[in-house]
Amino acid sequence: GAELAALVAGASIDVPDFPKPGVVFKDLMPLFADAEVFRRVIDGIAAHHGPGSFDVVAGVEARGFVVAAALAYAAGTGVVPIRKAGKLPRKALSASYALEYGEATLEVHEDAFVAGQRVLVVDDVLATGGTAAAAMDLVERAGGTVSGFTVLLELGFLNGRARLSSRAVRSLLTV
Ligand code: PRP
Ligand code: HPA
Repeated sequence: GAELAALVAGASIDVPDFPKPGVVFKDLMPLFADAEVFRRVIDGIAAHHGPGSFDVVAGVEARGFVVAAALAYAAGTGVVPIRKAGKLPRKALSASYALEYGEATLEVHEDAFVAGQRVLVVDDVLATGGTAAAAMDLVERAGGTVSGFTVLLELGFLNGRARLSSRAVRSLLTV
């Protein structure tokens, strides 16, 4: 717990005024780029959930893909991409969600999951929770069972967790 939180804190960089004035963006690219930190973070998530506690990992485009693919590989599962609108080649389910300005849409292939498959949904950051809510909604509409939602970093002051109240939400570090 504390060790993983310290790794995330030590490997992220605060970027003032990105993507707009007044926002302090937490950049996790240095965490992904550091072989030792990346391995310990991914192995730490895998160990927390324990062998056999989920059947597949779903990750949210784009930064969630980095976490999802590595975790799936470490845990010995497959990975299902949840994509931004218009990218998937076959029949897909869509979920729209509010952004600070405007709206965005996520999609997943309608046959992405076997009925009842236990899906661990992952992303890099939990901010307002709109992305997470849409991703978990899609997983369930596609027949999966959400076993949890895990992020590396939670921006606690945005109260995303409150929108996901009935879910098992885990973050390695909350700021
Ligand atoms: C970021 C982040 C999460 C989401 C969190 O992705 O990776 O997916 O925002 O925000 P929320 O909790 O307020 O919904 P972004 O949409 O910037 O896309 P990217 O991964 O393609 O950079
Ligand atoms: N850092 C990374 N991703 C994000 C952030 C942030 O501060 N806010 C929303 N998505």
